[in-house]
Amino acid sequence: MSGALLEAKGLCKRYGALVANDNISLTVAPGELHAIIGPNGAGKTTLIGQLTGQIRPDEGRILFRSEDITDRGMPARVQFGLSRSFQISSIFPSFNAECNVALPIQAKAGHSFRFWTPAVVIESLRGPARELLGRVGLGERGATRASVMAHGERRQLEVAMALASQPSLLLLDEPMAGLGAGESARMVAFLKSLKGRFGILLVEHDMNAVFALADRISVLASGRVIVSGTPEEIRSSREVREVYLGEEFDA
Ligand SMILES: Nc1ncnc2c1ncn2[C@@H]1O[C@H](COP(=O)(O)OP(=O)(O)O)[C@@H](O)[C@H]1O
Ligand SMILES: [Mg+2]
Repeated sequence: MSGALLEAKGLCKRYGALVANDNISLTVAPGELHAIIGPNGAGKTTLIGQLTGQIRPDEGRILFRSEDITDRGMPARVQFGLSRSFQISSIFPSFNAECNVALPIQAKAGHSFRFWTPAVVIESLRGPARELLGRVGLGERGATRASVMAHGERRQLEVAMALASQPSLLLLDEPMAGLGAGESARMVAFLKSLKGRFGILLVEHDMNAVFALADRISVLASGRVIVSGTPEEIRSSREVREVYLGEEFDA
């Protein structure tokens, strides 16, 4: 019993001859923000996909609160408290922000709503949906259609949708991608405000964000974790500098 919220043990994923994930083991403690960095093609998105249940590992096990969830599908993992954010595709563009957040709230509540009429359900979801929108800084945007929102606002909306399932672990795949400087800074501040309350596994290219937020950083290269340590240890690691040779790395 490790006390970890999430524990990945020896995850492997191959695509033909290509080894996308090669024996990856890592943990996320309750309340910890563990960042995954690594060059393009290192296997970061494949790792997140295996943790959410989107991609089936060839080898290895995934434990959530010490329970083996390797054979569980995505909906079951969400019910357990694991939530992935930043899938643009999860937004319904023609729905307003409030409805987009109400859907995952209802999904989580599931059949507890079965005796109520749709009108009552909608009314009882509205309050929590508004509250979540307020928490991500979209308090004024509830009635706005997702399709007309700015890119940064849609990312905030996705966080609200991820939080709607009341997760204890958030898996975030490049939440800063495509954000302008101001939007990025706001997202960093927001993620900071979530720290401690959720376990967070954060895949991110923005090194400033990673070093500002992470309790622990693991570096992936060619499908393997090559180093794992505190931000200080990663900053001074020779292996990390070698992997990032030719790329800007002066965090
Ligand atoms: N569905 C797939 N089919 C074949 N190769 C894939 C597939 N998904 C990812 N890969 C390959 O696996 C490697 C790791 O990809 P990925 O996990 O997306 O890396 P990262 O997110 O770190 O950029 C890459 O070489 C990529 O081309
Ligand atoms: Mg990726």
